[in-house]
Amino acid sequence: MRLLVLGANSDIAHALARLFARRERAELVLASRDMQRLEKRARDVSVRTGVRAEAVFFDACDFDSHEGFYAAIDPKPDGVVLAFGEFADQAAAQKDFRLAHRIIESNFTAAAGILSVIASDFEVRGHGFIVGIGSVAGLRGRQSNYIYGAAKAGLNVFLAGLRHRLFRRGVQVTTVLPGFVRTKMTENLDLPQRLVVEPEAAAEAIYRGWKKKRPVVYAPGFWRWIMLIIRFMPEAVFNRTRL
Ligand SMILES: NC(=O)c1ccc[n+]([C@@H]2O[C@H](COP(=O)([O-])OP(=O)(O)OC[C@H]3O[C@@H](n4cnc5c(N)ncnc54)[C@H](OP(=O)(O)O)[C@@H]3O)[C@@H](O)[C@H]2O)c1
Repeated sequence: MRLLVLGANSDIAHALARLFARRERAELVLASRDMQRLEKRARDVSVRTGVRAEAVFFDACDFDSHEGFYAAIDPKPDGVVLAFGEFADQAAAQKDFRLAHRIIESNFTAAAGILSVIASDFEVRGHGFIVGIGSVAGLRGRQSNYIYGAAKAGLNVFLAGLRHRLFRRGVQVTTVLPGFVRTKMTENLDLPQRLVVEPEAAAEAIYRGWKKKRPVVYAPGFWRWIMLIIRFMPEAVFNRTRL
């Protein structure tokens, strides 16, 4: 198996890439912006697992590069993990639309762009799988993070649409909805520690869900129950919370 990881410097993606390398013997194409970190991670995974891991530059927000980037990947991958994304403080993004725009571009527009290119290739080949990392934040708009949440909601719907489109071609599309994971993205956030898991635990849940061909995977699984309550809470109650 050959696996392309987009945003491979993500801590969750790195843990997941290691699992695919170890359990599927997947040869890795790791794509991200920070090449120094990426090359270190490629070496790390190669040394630990004995599989080939190559590092390639990819800036998801350079939309014009998407076609050329994918065309240069040879041979083509059997699967793709889409992990890139940016988080920003909601209050700051509310005041500065440039920041809000960046969040929407990196979490939604960029993902829609590169996945459109890849989906067309998988559709023609009748082969491939896509694992897209969204967020539980995309399941209900909340005052504390609705800009990031709206971008992730867009990604959730986009992935659901791809799953529908590609079903008949045998292409599996998995939507991943992580809760709180201890990574670079969350290191400065004040989170309820009992609900925070390590990237390895999130990666294990993602890998297992993918293996069982689940369309939607909560990472970790207990977020399904938390989000069931949050999603179906009546507006009259919800609007009085500080979530
Ligand atoms: N951590 C959580 O609690 C949590 C919860 C829900 C959802 N998620 C989602 O899970 C995914 C992985 O998150 P993480 O926590 O592992 O994040 P992370 O460690 O902060 O990594 C995110 C990575 O995204 C890459 N990236 C950002 N913009 C990019 C761009 N324009 N082009 C290419 N790469 C780009 C960065 O790569 P470079 O370093 O190369 O710039 C960065 O290393 C994200 O989509 C995030 O939104 C995370």
